[in-house]
Amino acid sequence: MLSITINVPVAHLPLLHAVAKDVPLQAAHLQANVLQPFAVTKVLEAFVTDSKMIVEGEDVKPVHDITLSCEHDTGYRFWPGDTIGILSYNTDSDVEYILDRLNLKSQCDTVRNVGIDQHTTKKGAKIPMYVPSVINYRRLFKECLDLHAVPKKLLIRSLTSHTTDENDRRFLEILCSKEGNSTYEKIVLQNGMGIISLLQLVPSCRPTVAVLLAHLPRLMPRPYSIANAYQEGASVAVRFLFSHDVNHPGITTTYLRGLEKGAKVYFYFRQSSAFVYKDSDLKRNIIMVGTGTGMSPYLSFLELRANALARGETIGRAELFVGFRYRERNYLCREEIKEYLEGGALDVCYEAFSRDTDTRHKYVQSLLADKCAQIVDNIRNPHALFYVCGDSKVLLPQITKTVTDILAEASPESETDFKAFIGELKKDGKYREDVWL
Ligand SMILES: Cc1cc2nc3c(=O)[nH]c(=O)nc-3n(C[C@H](O)[C@H](O)[C@H](O)COP(=O)(O)OP(=O)(O)OC[C@H]3O[C@@H](n4cnc5c(N)ncnc54)[C@H](O)[C@@H]3O)c2cc1C
Ligand SMILES: NC(=O)c1ccc[n+]([C@@H]2O[C@H](COP(=O)([O-])OP(=O)(O)OC[C@H]3O[C@@H](n4cnc5c(N)ncnc54)[C@H](OP(=O)(O)O)[C@@H]3O)[C@@H](O)[C@H]2O)c1
Repeated sequence: MLSITINVPVAHLPLLHAVAKDVPLQAAHLQANVLQPFAVTKVLEAFVTDSKMIVEGEDVKPVHDITLSCEHDTGYRFWPGDTIGILSYNTDSDVEYILDRLNLKSQCDTVRNVGIDQHTTKKGAKIPMYVPSVINYRRLFKECLDLHAVPKKLLIRSLTSHTTDENDRRFLEILCSKEGNSTYEKIVLQNGMGIISLLQLVPSCRPTVAVLLAHLPRLMPRPYSIANAYQEGASVAVRFLFSHDVNHPGITTTYLRGLEKGAKVYFYFRQSSAFVYKDSDLKRNIIMVGTGTGMSPYLSFLELRANALARGETIGRAELFVGFRYRERNYLCREEIKEYLEGGALDVCYEAFSRDTDTRHKYVQSLLADKCAQIVDNIRNPHALFYVCGDSKVLLPQITKTVTDILAEASPESETDFKAFIGELKKDGKYREDVWL
C-alpha cells in the first residue's frame, strides 16, 4: 500500500473534569443564566399559549404561528421590527446517538460538577461560559452544544486519539491534515456534515465528553421576528411565525414544531436594530417588502397602525409587497391582511406568486419594478420609510439592486452612484433592512 506522509495538527489534552455530586440541577434551560447575544432582557420563562400550523402540503414549506406568554410583566416595551432570541434544544435522537457513541448511557443523568482538569496542556483553559458548573451529560448535549455544527479540523484531530480501527483513524487524519484539504472540503464542508454524520463514518471512534466540550460550538439562541404589537397593561405575549425546511430540518425549527400548548419556552428580547417601526414613525409613508415568513414582522407594524387609527390618530400611507409560492396554498395571514386593508391600516397589498402558472409577477422584485413610480416617490420623499425583510445572502442584495436600477432608470441623465446612494439611505435609517441569516 502506498504510504503518504501527512501533517496532522497537535491536539491538546482534555480540559474537563466532571465529578458526580449530589446537588440539584437547575430546572430551567442550562443556558438560562448565561449572557445571550444582543440581549436587552434576561432570559424569560414563557408558555406556548397558541400554536397553529398555518401552512402545510406538497411543494410548500410548513409554517407555524406561535404565541408565547409570560405570567409576569417583563418590564420591557418592544416595538414592531424587534426580535426575540429563543433558547434551543437538540433533538432527543441526536442526543441519544451521542450518549451511545460516548458510552455514557448508564451515567448520563447523574448530576456532576464540571471543572478544569489539572493535567490539561491547554494554556488558560477554562470551561466555556455557556456551560454551567452543574450539569448532567444528557442536558449538556441537549442544551449547550451544537450537534449540527460542521466539525473543525482540530476536533477531527482530537477524534483520531479516540479511534481504535486503523482505517478509521487514517481517514480522520487525512481529513484534518493540510494535505487532505480538498477531501475535507468535499466530504465535510460541501455536505454541511455534522459531528453525528462524521461519527457514523468511523464506527470505532468513541470520543470523550471533554473532547466534544472543547471543540463543539455553543448551541446558540435563534432570532425570530415579533409579529404582534405590544399591548400596554396586558400580560406579555409575543407572536412569531416560522417556516420549516422538511428536507433539511434545522435544530430550532424541529424543536419549535414539536411544541404543544402549555409547553415552557425560554426566550429573551434582543436589542432593536435599524429595522424598527415606532409611534414616532406612524405619520410617515411606508413601503414594506417581504417574502414568505419575511412578511411576519409587518403584521406587528399593521397592528400598531390599526391601534393608532382606533385612537383616532392620522397615519401615513402603507404599501405592502409580498411574495409566496402559491396564492391559494401558502399565502400567509391572508385574512389578516384583508382586514387591515378594509380597516385602513394598510392602503394596498401587491402580491407575487412564484409557482402559480397564471401569475404576472413571480418575485417581489418584478412587483417593485412594476410599481417603480411609487418606489421612486418613497425614496425621494425624505419623510417616507422603506422596509425590507429577508435573508442577507440573496433577497436583500437583490432588492437593493432592484431599487438601485429603478432609481437609475427614473433619472437617466443623473450621474449619481445610486448604489452608494442606497448605502447612505441605509446608514441614515431611511432604508431599513431586517437581516435574516
Ligand atoms: C434577525 C433575524 C430574524 C429572524 N426571524 C425569523 C422569523 O421570524 N421566522 C423564521 O422562520 N426565521 C427567522 N429567522 C431565521 C431563524 O433565526 C433561524 O435561522 C431559522 O429558523 C433556522 O433555525 P434552525 O435552528 O432550525 O436551523 P439550524 O439548525 O441553524 O440550521 C440552519 C439550516 O437549516 C435549514 N433550514 C431550517 N429551516 C429553514 C427554512 N425555513 N428555510 C430554509 N432553510 C431552513 C437550512 O438548511 C439552514 O442552512 C430570523 C433570523 C434573523 C437573523
Ligand atoms: N436559512 C434559514 O435557516 C432560513 C430560515 C427561515 C427563513 N429564511 C429566510 O427567510 C425568508 C423567508 O423564508 P420562508 O421559508 O418563509 O420563505 P420561502 O418559502 O423560502 O420563500 C417565499 C417566497 O420567496 C420566493 N423567493 C425565493 N427566492 C427569492 C428571491 N431571490 N427573490 C424573491 N423571492 C424569492 C420563493 O420562491 P420559490 O421558492 O418558488 O423560488 C417563495 O415564493 C427567506 O429570505 C429565507 O431565505 C432562512
